[in-house]
Amino acid sequence: MTDTTTHTKYVSVDPETLDKATAYSLTTSLLVPRPVAWVATIGPDGVPNCAPFSFFMGVSSQPPVVAFSVGQRRTGPKDTVRTIEGHPEFTVNLCNEELAEHMVQTAADYPYGQSEFEKTGLKPLASEIVKAPRIGGAPVQMECTLYHLHHLEGTGATVIFGRVVRYHLDETVVHPESGLVDIRKLRPVGRLGGNEFCRVRDVFEIAKPRV
Ligand SMILES: Cc1cc2nc3c(=O)[nH]c(=O)nc-3n(C[C@H](O)[C@H](O)[C@H](O)COP(=O)(O)O)c2cc1C
Repeated sequence: MTDTTTHTKYVSVDPETLDKATAYSLTTSLLVPRPVAWVATIGPDGVPNCAPFSFFMGVSSQPPVVAFSVGQRRTGPKDTVRTIEGHPEFTVNLCNEELAEHMVQTAADYPYGQSEFEKTGLKPLASEIVKAPRIGGAPVQMECTLYHLHHLEGTGATVIFGRVVRYHLDETVVHPESGLVDIRKLRPVGRLGGNEFCRVRDVFEIAKPRV
């Protein structure tokens, strides 16, 4: 193997010295690319809500558990946290290139009780198991029940874990032989720093070593 340490010089940063905006910009430019959880919930009045969250990860595959992290507004918790605390179910939808503009539109800070579906022309689709709707047209939709909600002390972040109780896969993105999702058909977008996103265009393989 080549020596990867030659010519490497590092800029060291103490996160404690950063102001809030810089800390956010640095974090979101480092953890890249991030998948986007496009989360739909339902309010107590039956009004559906949706918003994107890219602090998003898989936690477990059996049972399937996913997690995303929601920051706080200066004025209080975001609607997604309020609605999930009120009704512990939601859907996590994946966004493809075609829906990327719509997805970003749903990040607008509409007042609590106003539906991003109505504002952006997206269609809520009835779920099979949970009360929260799926996002119509999203190539992958996961119905989730709340597994765990954790207000992470000192951070303002709420981490929400959802147990996936149903997957819905657009049949055009499913590989006919494997039954798995074909990344070339899914065409997901990844979130980068600032307002930047990326497409998945250049896929390559590296085999894991066998010991
Ligand atoms: C692509 C994208 C990713 C985002 N990721 C996050 C995130 O991980 N955590 C967060 O708190 N806000 C994130 N936001 C901002 C929220 O979507 C935004 O605050 C939204 O208004 C929250 O909606 P709500 O009040 O209906 O919950 C993201 C925005 C965009 C466009």
